[in-house]
Amino acid sequence: MDLGIAGKTALVMGASQGLGRAIAETLAEEGANVVLVARDAEALETLAKEITDKHDVRATVCPVDLSDSLAVTAFCTRVENEFKPDMLLNNTGGPPPSPSTGVSDEVWHNSAQMMLFSVVRVTEAALPAMKARGWGRIVAIGSSGIVQPIPNLAVSNTIRGAVAGFCKSLSAEVAANGITVNMVLPGKIDTGRLGRIDTAQAEREGKSVEEVRAAGQAAIPIKRYGQPEEFAKVAVFLLSDPAGYVTGQMTRIDGGIIRSI
Ligand SMILES: NC(=O)c1ccc[n+]([C@@H]2O[C@H](COP(=O)([O-])OP(=O)(O)OC[C@H]3O[C@@H](n4cnc5c(N)ncnc54)[C@H](OP(=O)(O)O)[C@@H]3O)[C@@H](O)[C@H]2O)c1
Repeated sequence: MDLGIAGKTALVMGASQGLGRAIAETLAEEGANVVLVARDAEALETLAKEITDKHDVRATVCPVDLSDSLAVTAFCTRVENEFKPDMLLNNTGGPPPSPSTGVSDEVWHNSAQMMLFSVVRVTEAALPAMKARGWGRIVAIGSSGIVQPIPNLAVSNTIRGAVAGFCKSLSAEVAANGITVNMVLPGKIDTGRLGRIDTAQAEREGKSVEEVRAAGQAAIPIKRYGQPEEFAKVAVFLLSDPAGYVTGQMTRIDGGIIRSI
């Protein structure tokens, strides 16, 4: 299938590692130019070089801290006037594990700034160019916790629900402009973030990381963690031309871990 995105430009948030990185690589494989965003400038430069060594595309590096509202405002000016993306992957880091109560104001505010308010502002900045072209694709990475809250990830469960509300609301507002807005919900995909969550659980429960990892995989109907590359293929399809009649959806990429219909 021709994904119809060769020569188009994708703005990839959280691109330095994990799911964002895998999506940036898959987009480049399909011929899309990529703008790579995260905090770690060196990791982004290395990725950009790897991508341009392998594929005939442009890879632009743009280091930004999405928990810094002033930095996000300056970044949004570049998104609107310079990058003008056809495709936007909304993705950030996740908050630290915790129950619902006893979380500091700092963690709530920083997490909401990074995971929700930056998504709203970056999306707004990306929309004018998409509207002018009558074509755009927006995908946000959420979590299975939106559907089935994950124990001890209360900040994530809470803020991602708000992101889902934003994406669904926006999807109806921009559908007639040829712009789709969808979410992808990872279950347990084998990235650095999942490793940190498993390590924190092992410390809390006095178990080894291997024990936690084995139990985590046993609880998934497919009996293994997902790979970033297989997650990326689904996300890139939703960012592609043939996915033009899919909007306002939350697609689970979770090996069946969410038990509800
Ligand atoms: N992996 C899973 O199974 C899973 C499951 C459910 C939900 N999720 C969520 O999906 C998202 C991606 O997951 P992942 O596993 O790829 O996580 P990851 O490996 O930790 O990668 C997160 C990415 O976001 C960037 N980032 C973090 N904080 C940032 C900030 N303040 N400003 C700009 N960029 C920032 C990181 O780069 P820098 O450090 O260079 O900034 C990195 O590129 C996360 O929100 C995660 O919570 C993942």
